[in-house]
Amino acid sequence: MKNINAVITGVGAYLPEYVLTNEELSKMVDTSDEWIMTRVGIKERRILKGEGKGASDMGAEAVKELLKKTNTSPEDVDLLICATVTPDHVFPATGPIICDKVGIKDIQSFDVNAACSGFLYALDVANKFVKSGMHKKVVVVGAEKMSSITDYTDRTTCVLFGDASAAVMVEPTEEEVGVMDTILRSDGSGRQHLLMKAGGSVNPSSHETIDAKMHSVYQEGQAVFKRAVSNMADVSAEIAERNNLTADDIAWLVPHQANLRIIDATARRMGIDKEKVMINIQRYGNTTSATIPLCLWEWEKQLKKGDNIVLAAFGAGFTWGSTYIKWGYNS
Ligand code: UT7
Repeated sequence: MKNINAVITGVGAYLPEYVLTNEELSKMVDTSDEWIMTRVGIKERRILKGEGKGASDMGAEAVKELLKKTNTSPEDVDLLICATVTPDHVFPATGPIICDKVGIKDIQSFDVNAACSGFLYALDVANKFVKSGMHKKVVVVGAEKMSSITDYTDRTTCVLFGDASAAVMVEPTEEEVGVMDTILRSDGSGRQHLLMKAGGSVNPSSHETIDAKMHSVYQEGQAVFKRAVSNMADVSAEIAERNNLTADDIAWLVPHQANLRIIDATARRMGIDKEKVMINIQRYGNTTSATIPLCLWEWEKQLKKGDNIVLAAFGAGFTWGSTYIKWGYNS
């Protein structure tokens, strides 16, 4: 029997229309375009406006585009995995809600929460389901309404995040393309450095938790920065080494977009030229589990079948990882 690989066969995305610029943020909190550009590298980010709109609304739009581009009817999708830290609700999961909004009926669907590494974790699940031979058309969608958990009076976090969704289709192939290798790690002892403190079972929502602003992103920036720089660079170098990939062999590095300095450190560590690094943080900020598929979506036309691509992420948990894929198609 031939080896089955799981390959990405299409990408879709959705970006909300509203653009929140550094200039507008400078009027809301004590910050400046100069600080944000120098320390993080973000110029603007998108914000989902509209009463009653959640992550699933963006996820559904991304999946609709994906189905259209890949010529897939909703009935043919047999698994949908949603990566998110901003689900519509604590429960039920957002994956089934996206299915409902897209017209995908009665399939297996669930959420994965690995924060900024969420897309890589969800892609790994998809890879294993497809390789098992059990699933033929799997949608992996990162959908984040980060603005719903951002405190726009806290300058240390409100400049960082944006809203977006992006999705990929994963299918089986007997060709030597697709997910070639994955390294995923976690260290729960890092949880106090980056979290939403209330709203879960440890600190259920109350007047006190709301007054204490415990329902938005809390981040100790420097502690997270140090771990992100070393762990994302280490794991990316490790996946390249164990697959005998030199910098020349790698067509693209697709890093999670949290901070341009973390991206630069990872590229430097791997010896990869800046032209081969997908960077769109300046336009969208940190969209958590949507950053990596959003890059693939933007760069799709430049990707060629057989391109060696390294995906890398670091996020709350801590979680981090790297995935080596061989691109499966020419657009
Ligand atoms: O995606 C999930 C994983 N997350 C990450 O990877 C994020 C990792 N962390 C970072 O990217 C950076 O730590 C930040 C961008 C969050 C912060 O940058 P930093 O260079 O580490 O700044 P800092 O926290 O050390 O703050 C330096 C100064 C402080 O002022 P003082 O104490 O030196 O007077 C901050 O109060 O910058 C101040 N500051 C700001 N000033 C203007 C913090 N935020 C702002 C701001 N505008 N928005």
